Amino acid sequence: MNVGFLQLKPKFGAVKENVRAAKSLLKNMTDATVVLPELFNTGYLFRSKDEVERLAESVKSSYTVGEMKKVAQQQKLNLVFGIAEKKSRKFYNTSILVTSKGKVFSYQKAHLFDREKLFFTAGTGAFAVHSVDDGKIGMMVCFDWFFPEVARILALNGANVICHPSNLVLPWCQDAMRTRSVENRVFSITANRIGTEKRGNLSLTFTGHSQIVDPKGEVLAKGGERSESLKVVEINPADADDKTVTPNNDLFKDRKVALYKPLLRKPG
Ligand code: ACM
Repeated sequence: MNVGFLQLKPKFGAVKENVRAAKSLLKNMTDATVVLPELFNTGYLFRSKDEVERLAESVKSSYTVGEMKKVAQQQKLNLVFGIAEKKSRKFYNTSILVTSKGKVFSYQKAHLFDREKLFFTAGTGAFAVHSVDDGKIGMMVCFDWFFPEVARILALNGANVICHPSNLVLPWCQDAMRTRSVENRVFSITANRIGTEKRGNLSLTFTGHSQIVDPKGEVLAKGGERSESLKVVEINPADADDKTVTPNNDLFKDRKVALYKPLLRKPG
């Protein structure tokens, strides 16, 4: 199975332009699963709920999802990408998976970062896993990385490839995702964006360095800090189904679930 990331620099508010740019960068790609950044079509730094409302789309009637679905079917791609979703008068920071067969799945980001809490509703859905080609794909979005439970639940649910659309601004995620891959024995693909987004008094610089990590924590491909890039590698997703760590250790069988009950308690 070929998997990769498309590291981009979206332009705030320019949905059609951003989708066109992504399509153009993907134009020679075929037979692969490619992850794009969080909110790749809208940009990240919303200033008001009105702006979110103007740019958010319902998954069913979404221009972005429709265009990406066409590309996926025409070029035999599975595409994972972030959009602002409008549903029942609420807004979600959502990751979409469109498959080469025309299926569409979505995951609403559970752990909202900073000012996202002003505009978006946190997702409460299950951490679903989707069988795509040889892989079992789980999705998480950006700051979900800070909560190791997300990758763990995806792995327990059977994911062997975690797709992670991101707009990273903190310096630790890329290292942390190597750990998420090791501690769950899964492949992870983090697709980050680059550039500085300035909106009035607000400004954020995104860290690039998108990466593909194998179940032993090795980085198979990495993007630069400032340039857009598309990188694809071949993996065997089944490598992630072997949870053996040593002849005497199995990652899942060795869990001490009875000792983890405090995880269910609220702090304080
Ligand atoms: C983030 O969750 N976009 C930092």
